[in-house]
Amino acid sequence: MKKKIKTIFGDPEKVNVLVLGSGGREHCLVEALSKSRVTADLHCATGNPGIASLAKVHDIDIRNRHSVKNLCAACEIDFVVVGPEAPLAEGVADWLRASGVKVLGPGADGAQLESSKAFAKLFMRRYGIPTSPFDICANIDECKAALLSRTPPYVVKADGLAAGKGVFLPDDIEEALSICRSLMRGEKLGVAGRKIVIEDFSPGKELTVLAITDGKTYRLLEPSRDHKRAFDGDEGPNTGGMGAYAPVTLPPGVMDVVRDRVIVPTLDGLRSEGIDFRGVLYMGLMLDETGEPPSLSVIEYNVRFGDPETQAVVPLYRGDLGVAMLAAAEGRLDACEEAGSSGCSLCVVMASDGYPGDFKRGFPISGLDRTLPGVHVYHSGTSYGHKRSGAAAKDSREVLTAGGRVLSVVGVGDTFAEAKAKAYEMVSAISFEGARYRKDIGRSED
Ligand code: GLY
Repeated sequence: MKKKIKTIFGDPEKVNVLVLGSGGREHCLVEALSKSRVTADLHCATGNPGIASLAKVHDIDIRNRHSVKNLCAACEIDFVVVGPEAPLAEGVADWLRASGVKVLGPGADGAQLESSKAFAKLFMRRYGIPTSPFDICANIDECKAALLSRTPPYVVKADGLAAGKGVFLPDDIEEALSICRSLMRGEKLGVAGRKIVIEDFSPGKELTVLAITDGKTYRLLEPSRDHKRAFDGDEGPNTGGMGAYAPVTLPPGVMDVVRDRVIVPTLDGLRSEGIDFRGVLYMGLMLDETGEPPSLSVIEYNVRFGDPETQAVVPLYRGDLGVAMLAAAEGRLDACEEAGSSGCSLCVVMASDGYPGDFKRGFPISGLDRTLPGVHVYHSGTSYGHKRSGAAAKDSREVLTAGGRVLSVVGVGDTFAEAKAKAYEMVSAISFEGARYRKDIGRSED
């Protein structure tokens, strides 16, 4: 039985919410929704043990239209928040909207901003959004010509979704060509690499800006910075993200440029193409502070919350995130007050040894029962297992490692020093075999 209340939108009832996804980002969103005044029953598919402490979890294939629709019908879901990009690219938001469910996440048309790098670059060109010059290549001769017209480091991007593995920065033209050949043959990333974007290298520091939008209005979360390389000192292979912090201190005027030259023309462009974008616009930006004024360009769009940026920015948000997300899904974000954010946060990802390459799963995690004020521990890749010894423990479940990124440990404080000390104190209290994490997450100026 749904609880009847009056929300700020005049909506007669709270909503039953389903979050799709199973990582640290989704755990963080579920936590925010569990505290929201719009949430009645809270569900997650497929979830993880951390999420299971806050929501009912369901083991379904979230890319299967029938499974998702059946779950929504069975649980009387009113509102779905989509975590990862793959279901969005496949049209999960379209199927659900067609059956009357409100969704935070664009349809397959809007998801092309992430699912096709070529679409995104051409979109930016059409609307004068700053991005580095590029060529779209459909065969190896076109790749060769695009590479020969540039200087190293070369930037080679697979057009399609590649789970963070689709960008290559070779210094050598032969290596660049060999990457292009292998992408085009489908050897590296299957169909995602059949088309290639080659673009000029943009120097500077990366910056993530997340906007919740109903396609007309938007609400910003704090600017954040992800740490993509596996090892300290930004060494080693690229990963999905080994940590993040927020807010990023920006030179004066930069956020005005982000609003005026990126967000507004992006939303205007989407509307002018008939794309009703209700979801999260992730702007992956490159900020070059060597010139005056600093220059800013868009490296990529994503159409969802970032991971691990979400774990860093959501705990700083001062409003009710559920209210903002639902308002965006309903197309009336203008009714939702600007809440702003405060404080500092730092997220350290604890990963399995070997990640982003091969790694072993199934190691027990100890220390998860510890709590510290101002610390959030979000499960990224965990599962339940059964304790192996002791008759009394036969039925009790323990949490095991189940992914490359295992936990996102977030410290929040008034200062970065405080946020960092808290995050690393918690990290030291948690252990599992092969645990690996970066010890240098945070602002380089600290
Ligand atoms: N942290 C990068 C991403 O979410 O795509």
